[in-house]
Amino acid sequence: MRIDLLRSGSKSLPRQISETLAQRITSGLLQPGSRLPSVRGLASSLKVSQVTVSKAYAELEARGHIICSQGKGCYVAERQRTAPDTAAGWQDSYDDYLPRAQLWRNFDYREVEYPFHLAAIHSSLLPLGPIGATMAALVKEQPELMASYGNFQGDAELREVMRRHLQSRGIAIGPDDLMITSGSQQGIDLVARTFVGPGDTVYLEAPSYTGAIDVFAGRGAEMIFVPVDGEGMMVDKLTAMCDLRPPKLIYTNPTFQNPSGVTMSMTRRQRLLELARSYRCLIVEDDPFSDLYFHQPPPVSIKSMDTGGHVVYMKSFSKVLAPGSRIACVAAEGNILSRLIAAKSASDLGGPLLTQRAVLPFIDRQYEAYAAKLRTALRQRKEAAARLLKQYAPAGVTWRLPEGGLNLWLQLPEAPAIERLHALAEREGISFLPGDVCYAGDLPSRHIRLCYSQLTEEGMQRGLKQFLLLLGQHLHSLRS
Ligand SMILES: Cc1ncc(COP(=O)(O)O)c(C=O)c1O
Repeated sequence: MRIDLLRSGSKSLPRQISETLAQRITSGLLQPGSRLPSVRGLASSLKVSQVTVSKAYAELEARGHIICSQGKGCYVAERQRTAPDTAAGWQDSYDDYLPRAQLWRNFDYREVEYPFHLAAIHSSLLPLGPIGATMAALVKEQPELMASYGNFQGDAELREVMRRHLQSRGIAIGPDDLMITSGSQQGIDLVARTFVGPGDTVYLEAPSYTGAIDVFAGRGAEMIFVPVDGEGMMVDKLTAMCDLRPPKLIYTNPTFQNPSGVTMSMTRRQRLLELARSYRCLIVEDDPFSDLYFHQPPPVSIKSMDTGGHVVYMKSFSKVLAPGSRIACVAAEGNILSRLIAAKSASDLGGPLLTQRAVLPFIDRQYEAYAAKLRTALRQRKEAAARLLKQYAPAGVTWRLPEGGLNLWLQLPEAPAIERLHALAEREGISFLPGDVCYAGDLPSRHIRLCYSQLTEEGMQRGLKQFLLLLGQHLHSLRS
């Protein structure tokens, strides 16, 4: 069987194979009942690994296109012949460029009691009262805030507050070197729209934040993933890779990284900056978690050492204050920032003034005391989660406890047949983030990410214990 594969594309090989076969099945080219080539046969004719073909077949089976049975092989499912033209019928093979969306579309996250997949903080820990009160007062006393477009770059007063905040973290820039965005997600998107085009080389950590992977994939970037160890992105490996493919941009989440929880060492931060200088490229330093340390403050940001305007620094307040406020700031200098402001105006003509003003007094006057309390609450949750892991994690499951942030990153002894595990967890009202979406790679990941801060402490403990027991049963059933 011939399938043309694009080996340097952003779409994974299993995905390309499963989509091609799905198209042939839905168009009738492959008739119901016909046998697909064996995994080994197709792998050898396409010159890909057997794991790649198995993954493609598993995806086709999960979508009901084929039926596979041990020893007999895989056959085109009967129901394709008579299936009416439903939305699911054609949408499954409709191309997109978002690796994360490809996996998520098979899962329904709406109705879960224990949403461990979401990296967020439980509402009882957030300062919703004071922010809500400011918002209500603004609506009542200054309704004219809603009557005009704000500044594209963001409210000048909030930018001044952000400037002081960043200065207290060692980042010395002017209020004009800042832009307010709708979360750092928009910041990443604006950088990608402005500076990354099809085929441009973007280096990311492996694993990396899924929202960034999707954005760069959507721009048609050539994404190269650099392994992470206990000191963060392995910059020596990155340096060797850059010799072969010079970077257009390096994306990093160096502090309490999502998903691995790892923090980049000071030495590597310095070397990364040197690398960006020598290649005259940009680093995107995405920093939503650095205030959420449990013991020692993390090393200073890469931006605080940047004298040449190589770092676009993103500080999200949305995670720690109120995700619904969608407030983050992006710090950059020179015409890098002016081009980003142009992109922002093209994207949304500026963020809502009301929410910018609603968070302003809190960030200005109450943030530091609040952050200290939040750190204590999150540390307690992390410690409770650590105790449960010790007691209930199945044999062979390993983890490195994070020094800050929101996530646990578990390594399983084998790839866990993720769709099945997800279905089992969903039945018990539990969700988790499969590691696959953090790599956009070819091989099934052996990792899963669990967020311990999105629930009440009791809820987290109940749900985590339940999940670990279920994981144990699932891994056992895979082996027997
Ligand atoms: C590393 C990282 N960057 C950016 C974001 C986006 O957050 P927001 O747009 O709410 O600032 C997230 C959210 O999970 C994240 O984990």
